[in-house]
Amino acid sequence: MDGIQLLMEEHKNIIKLTQVMKEECIEILEGKAVDTQRFREFIYFCRVYADKHHHGKEEKILFRIMMAELGTVAEKLIRTGMLVEHDLGRYHLGELEKALEEYDKGPSSAVKLDVITNASEYAALLKRHIEKEDNVAFTFANRSLPLGFLELVNQETEEFEGSLEAEETKRQFDDWLSKQNIQ
Ligand SMILES: [Fe+2]
Ligand SMILES: [Fe+2]
Repeated sequence: MDGIQLLMEEHKNIIKLTQVMKEECIEILEGKAVDTQRFREFIYFCRVYADKHHHGKEEKILFRIMMAELGTVAEKLIRTGMLVEHDLGRYHLGELEKALEEYDKGPSSAVKLDVITNASEYAALLKRHIEKEDNVAFTFANRSLPLGFLELVNQETEEFEGSLEAEETKRQFDDWLSKQNIQ
């Protein structure tokens, strides 16, 4: 199993998830009420798939090994770029969740705006983040990590993917994604 290749495949799925989120935001702009259950579904998959399953592998495996083996350039790129952006994504999901609670208590245009802002900001952040990983961070890892460490990434990725939790996350997410109408 090529651990970096797998992360790049997952990026394509995360982009599809954010496309679905954006579509839902557009429908609100066009007059639809906020479907809070639908947004809670998005938050669930952003947390279990994009964050725990995908960012989990980046943080615990690839980035850990890059920071240990590739010195200060990798450390700076990862700590001040990638990890900060993972946290910013978590912040937007938290704010989106708060806005949904507010909306359920009493819908207003201000709360609608908070829903749309946080969901679309999350989508835009993840798009930029994924471009940086595909074009900079992962390219750097592939080019600079000694073969033995790339193999370590692959081996640890295989162990991660083999866990019951990872299997269940993939099954749930694939099933959900296959039912979405993606443009
Ligand atoms: Fe990432
Ligand atoms: Fe990523």
